[in-house]
Amino acid sequence: MNAREIRLAARPHGLPGLDAFHLVETAIPDPAPGQVLIRNLYMSLDPGMLMLIGAYPDIPIPPYEVGAPLYGDAVGEVMASGEPSLKEGDVVLHRHGWREYALADAAQVRQVDPDAYPSLSTYLGFGLVAYAGLTAVAGLRPGETVFVSSAAGATGSMAGQIARLLGAGRVVGSAGTPEKVARLTGTLGFDAAFDHHDGPIADRLREAAPDGVDVYFDTVGGEQLRAAIDVMNAHGRIALCGALARQSAGGSPDAGPGDPMRLIGKRLTLRGFTMNDHLDLASEFGRRLRQWLADGSLVYEETVVDGLENAPQALLDLVRGTYTGKVVVRLTR
Ligand SMILES: NC(=O)c1ccc[n+]([C@@H]2O[C@H](COP(=O)([O-])OP(=O)(O)OC[C@H]3O[C@@H](n4cnc5c(N)ncnc54)[C@H](OP(=O)(O)O)[C@@H]3O)[C@@H](O)[C@H]2O)c1
Repeated sequence: MNAREIRLAARPHGLPGLDAFHLVETAIPDPAPGQVLIRNLYMSLDPGMLMLIGAYPDIPIPPYEVGAPLYGDAVGEVMASGEPSLKEGDVVLHRHGWREYALADAAQVRQVDPDAYPSLSTYLGFGLVAYAGLTAVAGLRPGETVFVSSAAGATGSMAGQIARLLGAGRVVGSAGTPEKVARLTGTLGFDAAFDHHDGPIADRLREAAPDGVDVYFDTVGGEQLRAAIDVMNAHGRIALCGALARQSAGGSPDAGPGDPMRLIGKRLTLRGFTMNDHLDLASEFGRRLRQWLADGSLVYEETVVDGLENAPQALLDLVRGTYTGKVVVRLTR
C-alpha cells in the first residue's frame, strides 16, 4: 500500500490557490534505528501555514520549501519502531503533518496518553497559546474585562472561555457572522459579542465593553487592534498572538497599532509571543483543561474535515471564516 502526502507545488503571490498544493503517492518507508514510522490519525490546520507557504518575512519558523512536503502538528500511532522507548501502538504528537504516514526521529516525537481527552485530536488544540497569552503574557487579574478577536476560532474560543474560568469580570468577543456571534454569547458563555463586519469596530466594542477593556487577546491585528487600543483602559495589556487580517489578505502588510501617543498616554503594554515561549506551562494547562472538560465548564470547539485530499481547500476555507473552533483533518482511510 502507498501513502499520500501533500507537497508545495509552487510559491504563490498572495493567497494560494489549489494549484499551490501537490498530492503525491509515496512508498511507506521502514524506520532506521532511532526512527519511528507513524500512521497519522489527525493533522492540524492553522492560518499560520499560509505564512509558511508564502514565506512571509519575520516568521520565527522556516517556510515550506517548494517540492517538499508541508509540515505541521499531527497526532498518530506508531506502526514500527527503531527506538526501544517507543513501541507499536503508542500514540505520539509530532510536526510531520500533511502526510498519511510519517517517518520521524524518535527524539522529535512526544508520546501522549491516548485516554486523556475524549478525542486524540484535542492534542492539536490551541488552548495552551490562549492560556499562556492570558496568564504569562497579559497577566489577567480577576474582575478585569477581556476582549478576544476571532473569538469563535481555534484560539479565540479557548481564550474567551479560559478568561472566564480564570475570573475575568467581563468577556467580550468578535466574530464574522451572526451565527458565530450567537454561539459566543450562548454555548461559549461570553458576556457580549459583536460582528466585526458591523463597523465601526471601536463603536461596537465600546457598546460591548462600556467600562473599557483591560486585556485584549489579539489574533487579528489590523482594524480590530486599533479599535481595541481606542477602548483600552489605562495600563491595559495586549497579547499579540496572531495576524488573521494579514493572513486572510494574502500577506499584505498590516498598518499596525497606529499613533504611539495613544499607547503612551494610556501606558499600554503590547507584547508579541509564541506558544513555544511557554511550553513550561503545558503540564499545568493540560491538568486544568482535563478538569474543565470533565466538569463541563469548558466546551471544546472543533471541526473535523475528512481526508488529506481535502486539506488544501479546508486551509483556504479556514481563513474565509467557513468553520468554528479548531480545524483538524482526519487522515485515516
Ligand atoms: N503565537 C502563536 O504561537 C500562535 C499559535 C496559534 C495560532 N496563532 C495565530 O493566531 C491566529 C488565530 O489562529 P487560529 O488557528 O485560532 O485561527 P482561527 O481564529 O480559527 O481562524 C479562522 C478564523 O479567522 C477569522 N478571520 C479571517 N480573516 C479575518 C479578518 N480579516 N478579520 C477578522 N477575523 C478574520 C474567521 O473568523 P470570522 O468568521 O469570525 O471572521 C475565521 O473563521 C492566527 O493568526 C494564527 O497564526 C499564533
